[in-house]
Amino acid sequence: MNDKLGNWKRTHRCGELSAGQIGQDVCVMGWVQRRRDHGGLIFIDLRDRDGIVQLALDPDRDPEAHSKAEQVRNEFVLAARGKVSPRPEGTVNPRMKTGEVEIEISELLILNRSETPPFMIDEFSEVAESIRLKYRYLDLRRPALQDNLLMRHRVARTVRNYLDCQGFIEVETPVLTKSTPEGARDYLVPSRVNPGNFYALPQSPQLFKQLLMVSGYDRYFQIVKCFRDEDLRADRQPEFTQIDCEMSFVNRDDVISIMEGMIAEVFLQAIGAEVQLPMARLTYAEAMDRFGVDNPDLRFAMELIDITALVSGSQFKVFADVAASGGLVKALNAKGCSSFSRKELDDLTDFVKIYGAKGLAWVKVTEEGWQSPIAKFFTADELAALNDKLAAEVGDLLLFMADTPAIANEALGRLRGHLGQKLGLAKKDDFKFAWITDFPLLEWDGEERRHVAVHHPFTAPLEEDIGLLDTEPGKARAQAYDLVLNGSEIGGGSVRIHDQAVQSRMFDLLGIGAEEAREKFGFLLDALSFGAPPHGGIAFGLDRLMMILTGADSIRDVIAFPKTQKATCLLSEAPNEVSERQLQELAIRLRKAQK
Ligand code: AMO
Ligand code: AMP
Repeated sequence: MNDKLGNWKRTHRCGELSAGQIGQDVCVMGWVQRRRDHGGLIFIDLRDRDGIVQLALDPDRDPEAHSKAEQVRNEFVLAARGKVSPRPEGTVNPRMKTGEVEIEISELLILNRSETPPFMIDEFSEVAESIRLKYRYLDLRRPALQDNLLMRHRVARTVRNYLDCQGFIEVETPVLTKSTPEGARDYLVPSRVNPGNFYALPQSPQLFKQLLMVSGYDRYFQIVKCFRDEDLRADRQPEFTQIDCEMSFVNRDDVISIMEGMIAEVFLQAIGAEVQLPMARLTYAEAMDRFGVDNPDLRFAMELIDITALVSGSQFKVFADVAASGGLVKALNAKGCSSFSRKELDDLTDFVKIYGAKGLAWVKVTEEGWQSPIAKFFTADELAALNDKLAAEVGDLLLFMADTPAIANEALGRLRGHLGQKLGLAKKDDFKFAWITDFPLLEWDGEERRHVAVHHPFTAPLEEDIGLLDTEPGKARAQAYDLVLNGSEIGGGSVRIHDQAVQSRMFDLLGIGAEEAREKFGFLLDALSFGAPPHGGIAFGLDRLMMILTGADSIRDVIAFPKTQKATCLLSEAPNEVSERQLQELAIRLRKAQK
C-alpha cells in the first residue's frame, strides 16, 4: 500500500485557523499559494478550499523542515505540523481570515510536486477563458469559483429541505428517452441493439413528471440535468440543471405561493437576503406594454411609452407611416442623458439594429427646446403633448422607435435593459422579482406556417379562453407563468392539460395530426385517459439562479465543468470523432461534414 500520509492526520482546514487556536498543535494540508524567503526564515501561504494560512519555517527550530521548504514551489501539496502563534507585531494582515496568526512549523511533508501552473491560482490574475477551461481543475482551485460551487451546494441543500418539508419527493426520470418538445433541438443517442433507432436526451422531464402525477405521487421534484441543442448565449448551456417540480390538485396560485416560498428561503440561506412576499405579478400584456419584453428588469423604471396615437398625424413620415400600417411608435426617456456624445448615440442605434430595428430617433431636451434631427417635423402642440407624455425635462434624452409591434417592443425593450446596465441603474445586490402571467397559449411560426406552443404543448389554456380555441386560437391565453428576476427568466411553468380530449385538440391546433400525436405522445394520451388528476408545475434554471446569487457574469462560472459557446469541453475535448468500429456497431455511416 502506498500510504504517503502514514500517521499524519489533518486537524484543521487552513481557513479555519484564527486567534482562537493560538497555542494549539495543529496539522494542515493543502496547496502552496506562494513561498517567500526572508533570509533564513521561509514563509509559505498554504491554501485549501476554506482559505489560506501562513506557515513560518525557522531554520533554527527544525532544520529538516526548513530545507524541505526550500524545495517547495507553487501548487506543491504539503502536510505541515506546528503550533498556532500570533503573528509578530506589524505583520498582522487584516484582509486575511487567518491574518492574525501563523503556524510555527515543526514538521513538513511534501505530499506531491506540481509543474509550474499555466496561471497563478488567485482571483487577481486575468486569464483567457480558453486557458481557464482547458485547465479547469486548476481554475477550480481559485477561491472565487470554490465559493460559487460551495454556494451552489448550499442552495441545492436548501431546495431539498424546503421541498421535503412541503411533501415533495425526489424521483429520478430517464436520461435515455424520447423527444420532449421544449422548443430546442434534441441531442440524440444511437441505440446499438436497435440499429437505426435513437434515444433523445431530455430537454426536460416534462412528460415523466406528468406521468408521476397520474400515478398518484402528488408532489414531485428533481434537481436534474436537461439537454438542449440550441444557440448558446451568456446565460445558456447545452446541458444545464433544473429544479423541476410538479404538483397535483393545485391551481396557478398554489404553485406560485409554494415556489416563491422556496425562492425566499434560498435567498435567505444562501446570501442572507430577505425577499418580500408575495412577489409582484405582471400580466404578459402589461410587461410587453411597459417594458417591451417578457423578462423585464424591474430594478429601474425608464418604462416604454406608446406614442403611436400622438404622432400618427405628424409630418415625420417614418412615424406616420408606421402608425398607419398598424405598427407601434414607442419611446423611452433616458433621464439626464442629454450629454450623450454622437458616438454614444450611434452605438445605441447599432444596438437596436441587432433586433431588426430600422433606426432610432433621438431628442436632447435643452433649455431651448428639442435638439434633434426630427424636431423640425413636429408642431408646437405635438411637441408639448410628447414632452408631457414622456415627462421630459431639460437634460433628458428621449429615444423613439417606430416599427412592427414585435420589433418596436423587443428592440426598445432590450435598449432599456442595455441603458440600465450602462447607466449603473441595475445593482447586483438589488433583487427584483416578478411573476409574469397570462402568456399567450400559441404563437404563429411564419417559417413552418403553423401555430407553436409558447410554453409547451401540455399547457392548459385559461378557462375563460377555451372558447377562443375554435374561433381565434392565436388570442387564447395560457395558464402559464414565468418567474423573472433582474431581467432574467429564472423559472417557468404552467397548469397542465389533464383531459385527454383537450390535449388531442391542442395537438390538432399545433398542426400535429392524430397519427403523429399517437406516434410521439401516445403514452401521454393513454395515461390521461386513466384518471389524470388536475396538476401543474414549474422548473427553475438552477444555473441562472446561481449566476444572480453569486453575481457571476457568465453561467460558466457557476458550473464545475461547463461547455464553451460552441458547445465544446476544452478540458476533455468533447465532442470528438469516434472509431470506424464504433460507428459500424451503431449501424451509422457518416456523410461528409458540410462546411
Ligand atoms: P423552460 O423551458 O421554461 O420550462 O425551462 C425552465 C427554466 O430552465 C432554464 N433554462 C436554461 N438554463 C440554462 N441553459 C439553458 N439552455 C436553459 N434553458 C432553460 C430557464 C428556464 O426558465 N418543462 C418546463 C417546465 C414546466 O413547465 O414545469 C420547462 O422546461 O431558467
Ligand atoms: P431619416 O429621415 O431616415 O434620416 O431618419 C431620421 C432619424 O430617424 C434618424 O435618426 C433615424 O435613425 C431615425 N429613424 C429612422 N427609422 C426609424 C424608425 N423606424 N424608428 C425610429 N427612428 C427611426
